[in-house]
Amino acid sequence: MSALVKLDQLTKHFDLGRGQRVHAVDGISLEIKRGETLGLVGESGSGKSSLGKTLMGLHDKTSGNVIYDGEELPRHYRAADFQRMASRMQMIFQDPYSSLNPRMTVGEIISEGLRGKPLSKAQKQQAVGEWLEKVGLNAAHASRYPHEFSGGQRQRIGIARALIMSPEFVVCDEPISALDVSVQAQVVNLLNDLKTSMGLTMLFIAHDLSMVRYISDRMAVMYLGALVELGNARDVYFQPRHPYTEVLIASNPEPDPVTERERASTTIQGEIPSPVNVPAGCRFAGRCPKVMPVCREQTPALLPLVDEDRLVACHLYSQ
Ligand SMILES: Nc1ncnc2c1ncn2[C@@H]1O[C@H](COP(=O)(O)OP(=O)(O)OP(=O)(O)O)[C@@H](O)[C@H]1O
Ligand SMILES: [Mg+2]
Repeated sequence: MSALVKLDQLTKHFDLGRGQRVHAVDGISLEIKRGETLGLVGESGSGKSSLGKTLMGLHDKTSGNVIYDGEELPRHYRAADFQRMASRMQMIFQDPYSSLNPRMTVGEIISEGLRGKPLSKAQKQQAVGEWLEKVGLNAAHASRYPHEFSGGQRQRIGIARALIMSPEFVVCDEPISALDVSVQAQVVNLLNDLKTSMGLTMLFIAHDLSMVRYISDRMAVMYLGALVELGNARDVYFQPRHPYTEVLIASNPEPDPVTERERASTTIQGEIPSPVNVPAGCRFAGRCPKVMPVCREQTPALLPLVDEDRLVACHLYSQ
């Protein structure tokens, strides 16, 4: 599979003034292959949304590149860039309550991206109706307002709004975390079915590692702006190599209450440091159960493991 999206040392820093900078995304390089779902996991504050938004052009890049289908995307998007890329890449947001304009009808929301397209009003209405049905709603819902819908239904509206553009690549930023557990699986299954039928490539950002393992081909683990591990989703989940991935998986509750009760549950020691003052050496050293003196001095590079299809940034493997 060839790469559809390539991140080359992508960096996003937020300037807080008085010389303070948030290192939200700090030199991340990875490839997303055509047709695959890449899961992106990491604790809150690790920079997952910043990475997704910078990739989409919603944040200006501080440095580094996003190469999309062989084309280097601009550092700063202008309106014409958004318009041009809208039929190629789309984003589904975390919070279906704040991401839909309450003053617009569902039909207006879903068809907003079609504004510049050479389609008649009737054609747009038909497309909206078809998409409402595809996401499990009803064509007659187009005239209603977002407040008339539940969280799960609103997320279906968000999915229709993104996919009506027939993109080839979609960033899903925690698309289910604001939903009741009972509807999470329905929305994930809907996304998975649409992914298959439309041949989409996806970056799926989530907290819930067992869900990411289920939906993703490969999994990337992020910590404090940097990538610490990348590999086949199942392998990373069942045989994590980076100590951070190990504790992240051990602290992730199992969906099944019986296995959850029997599981040796752990929590990660300490808190994620501030991305304003990134520690020297390995960013995880201060919390790592396997820390060695070298970890506090040298930043480990993300390197392939011998005989494994896995990239890990950890001195345990670079000795
Ligand atoms: N617009 C902004 N201005 C300043 N700092 C920001 C901005 N957006 C994000 N940050 C900071 O960047 C860091 C990474 O945030 P980000 O939202 O990307 O993390 P995340 O992994 O998506 O977390 P979560 O799982 O909670 O969604 C955090 O320290 C956050 O406070
Ligand atoms: Mg986020």
